[in-house]
Amino acid sequence: MNLQKKTMITGCSGFIGTHLVRRLLDEGFQVRGYDLNKSSIACPNFEFVQGNILDMEKLRESMDGCESVFHLAAQTSVPKATKNPFHDFKANAEGTFNVLLAAKELGARVIYTSTSTVYGLADIPTNESQTLKPISFYGASKAAGDLYCFAFYHTFGVDTVILRLYNVYGPGNRKGVMYDLFKKLERDPSHLEVIGTGLQRKDYIYIEDTVDVLLVAHEKGASGEAYNVGSGISTTVNEIVKIILDILQLSPEIMYTGQSWKGDVVSAQADISKFKNLGWSPKVSIEDGIRRTYEWIKD
Ligand SMILES: NC(=O)c1ccc[n+]([C@@H]2O[C@H](COP(=O)([O-])OP(=O)(O)OC[C@H]3O[C@@H](n4cnc5c(N)ncnc54)[C@H](O)[C@@H]3O)[C@@H](O)[C@H]2O)c1
Repeated sequence: MNLQKKTMITGCSGFIGTHLVRRLLDEGFQVRGYDLNKSSIACPNFEFVQGNILDMEKLRESMDGCESVFHLAAQTSVPKATKNPFHDFKANAEGTFNVLLAAKELGARVIYTSTSTVYGLADIPTNESQTLKPISFYGASKAAGDLYCFAFYHTFGVDTVILRLYNVYGPGNRKGVMYDLFKKLERDPSHLEVIGTGLQRKDYIYIEDTVDVLLVAHEKGASGEAYNVGSGISTTVNEIVKIILDILQLSPEIMYTGQSWKGDVVSAQADISKFKNLGWSPKVSIEDGIRRTYEWIKD
């Protein structure tokens, strides 16, 4: 048990944040959550603060006494960032800057959840030394977070670890391709509209594996370093469709929109050797992960 360890999670009410809070509580941490939206978790070792990471004073006050901060709060939609790039910039670039500034003042370790979209159209499999060349506003604002982590580390010695997450999926995620496909089939089991060509190829990592990574990074991640977090395997949308249709025992007529949304990186696969060197490897296969996601959606 780890009762004296106090950590903060920004974005604690979101998909990954909710799983992370539960896991840290299980591990015996005292957790302070910070989010614009209320948390569904109530527990003696969990203290929730409703706040905006753009409110520097409240953020600093809330971080006080925490040894570390998992910085997850963000505007997380690529299409929304395209529609309102200024809001996306404020939440992701300025918000991350604020978290780093507060961490500098209070001496906290920062685990920052960045994204694979910072690489843009990179060589595949992508390793961490590739140039950051985002093709979306979301990718750009998150990449600004990576760069500020490096700057705060090299200039002021702030203890930062960057995790570049690929596509995280699982129970609790009400966005993304799997949720979209299951919901469409629930509404109409005889037709299925697939966004894009079906040939988009991405790297999917199950939520439990992702939370494991967050804990390993907290304990062992090297300061000033960035790590890819994916399964290391790329899966096409058509392969996901097949897994889902096998689970549901359906054979609908499939229609493709042919076009993805602006800023979508249609081909992604992580080189995860750097994180594997910390002693971690993914455990949940895509088939098993989708099945578990379906159990949640069904309920
Ligand atoms: N889910 C994925 O596939 C994925 C992939 C790559 C990176 N990430 C990163 O992981 C993190 C968590 O992702 P998620 O899927 O849980 O996202 P989410 O959208 O489910 O949760 C984000 C949370 O941040 C909060 N938030 C947003 N702006 C805020 C602000 N200004 N102040 C305080 N709270 C604010 C929201 O209320 C929400 O609860 C994000 O930083 C995201 O960029 C996620």
